[in-house]
Amino acid sequence: MRTTMALKMMFATLALGLAACGESGSDVPGGGDDEEVIPLLVAGSLVDFQTGDSLSSGAINVDGISPPPSVTLVGGNFEIAGIPPYSNFHLLASSPPTHRSTYGSVIVTEDIDVDGLVIETLSEDFVASLHAEFGVADSATLSVVLGKLVDENGSALAGVPGTAFQLEPTMQGPFFLDADRAPDLRLSESSSSGYVVIFDVEPGLVSFQASPGATVSLAMADSPAAARAVTLAEIVVQDGDVVIPTGVSFSADVAPIFDNRGCVTCHSKNGIGKDLGGLHLNGEVNKMHKELTEEVSERHQIVRVNLETPAESLMLTLPSKEDPPDVHPNSTFLSAADADYLTILGWIQEGALNN
Ligand code: HEC
Repeated sequence: MRTTMALKMMFATLALGLAACGESGSDVPGGGDDEEVIPLLVAGSLVDFQTGDSLSSGAINVDGISPPPSVTLVGGNFEIAGIPPYSNFHLLASSPPTHRSTYGSVIVTEDIDVDGLVIETLSEDFVASLHAEFGVADSATLSVVLGKLVDENGSALAGVPGTAFQLEPTMQGPFFLDADRAPDLRLSESSSSGYVVIFDVEPGLVSFQASPGATVSLAMADSPAAARAVTLAEIVVQDGDVVIPTGVSFSADVAPIFDNRGCVTCHSKNGIGKDLGGLHLNGEVNKMHKELTEEVSERHQIVRVNLETPAESLMLTLPSKEDPPDVHPNSTFLSAADADYLTILGWIQEGALNN
């Protein structure tokens, strides 16, 4: 199977992180074999999207972690305690009356604390300039998405045409910001800033795909949208379609995902996923295969792999984001375009074999 360079680099970092975790775990008195899930501290500051200036006050809400972690905010600097490792989540920043409530791009954690996050919020003046330039009325019930088109390395991507987007008929756009992040109605493709604007998005979870005729694929994390709020998101642009892998091996392709994406930190030893979910994912291939394809889940009363409707399998839905959220404490897969999500989906489509 092919893995992109970006993913390989991410896996390398994760492997290092796990090794470090093992070392510190042995220092815990009486720790023995029992690895604990150590919650993370995530810190950063609020800035204005257009000027980059720090904001002196505001509020932060965490979306996507249950139970909700505690947030401390001093001026425009925040600290959040209690984020599970290997999670993805969004922060909703607000600083009324000068700024519009803004969901930041997805934040993905490994097993180390995160510091120096910069969370951008849009000023009311800037939001007004978007509506004025693009001629779309400000809606009290719908939301605005400001996407940043990037390549696989995260660099802003110019030249992505508006026709590449498949939008709901009720949405308005796509429109583009120029190289200085100013709205420009004349642009029909992304500038070097990479920013695209889409209005009138329904509250709930939002993610954009490429239109059927497009020569690129778009991958955006499932992101929250709320009435009269702005959602910032990175949209990764790749050549060609999103492909569901074939010839997937359980032992060689699927099992390593449980390590690489942190499922084992909660689902092995005395982790909360083992206690509450009765699922061990402890690296023993035959046992894991049996748990996933034969055992009936005590809580959900179904087998964790669904051969009839693969995308409805518990092992895919629970670690994905839903609106409203399900019982899973976090989400791991960014969207249905996540490479590991697609690998597991391909494996189930091929019969979830112990191969
Ligand atoms: C932050 C800790 C955590 C992480 C990381 C995590 N899980 Fe879980 N998982 C849980 C908990 C807790 C439950 C039980 C939820 C409940 O039923 O209340 C659970 C339940 C599940 C279940 C259902 C078990 C059952 O039958 O009831 C599946 C399947 C599952 N997780 C798969 C995964 C996969 C796959 C990953 C990695 C992609 C993952 N989980 C990562 C904590 C975690």
